[in-house]
Amino acid sequence: MEVPTKKELLVSKIKNGTVIDHIPAGRALAVLKVLKITGSEGLRVAVVLNVESKRIGKKDIVKIEDKEVSENEANLITLIAPTATINIIRDYEVVEKKQLKVPEVVKGILRCPNPHCITNNDVEATSVFKTVKVKPLKMRCEYCETEIDENDVIRQILGNPQT
Ligand code: CTP
Ligand code: ZN
Repeated sequence: MEVPTKKELLVSKIKNGTVIDHIPAGRALAVLKVLKITGSEGLRVAVVLNVESKRIGKKDIVKIEDKEVSENEANLITLIAPTATINIIRDYEVVEKKQLKVPEVVKGILRCPNPHCITNNDVEATSVFKTVKVKPLKMRCEYCETEIDENDVIRQILGNPQT
């Protein structure tokens, strides 16, 4: 095996799984949240924060062993990390780089800001947002048509209270 360069020393390569690279600095924990990874699943996960990137200044990296993220999960990641590249790893090789695209529909992840919306008043209701525009991002609640923008989405996923 090659001697790793200084850049690679922080976290080693993985054998099988997913590497999410070029995440905007500081968003890695939000990526884990979108993937519903809390640590209690027992997956081996490496989270690298605020390392230098040639392309985007500083970046975060998430490496998840023995889990290949689905198309749907990859699309959710674009909501909060549009610059991310998702690499599927098998037997140490990158076998796929997923093309990220903003999902047309997002169920159950976002919350409608309208307090009168049925999704905020019926415990059985699940929020459904449809993408109206990709750039800049605009999504609309299926039930009450309230619209949210990219900042709303990021704030919600990063878990800011009262937003
Ligand atoms: N990687 C890993 N384990 C492997 C293979 C790759 O952790 N067995 C990581 C690399 O360290 C890198 C990412 O997966 O962070 C993508 O790998 P690769 O495509 O080889 O890197 P680049 O050519 O730099 O790709 P890109 O510029 O598209 O990010
Ligand atoms: Zn609503």
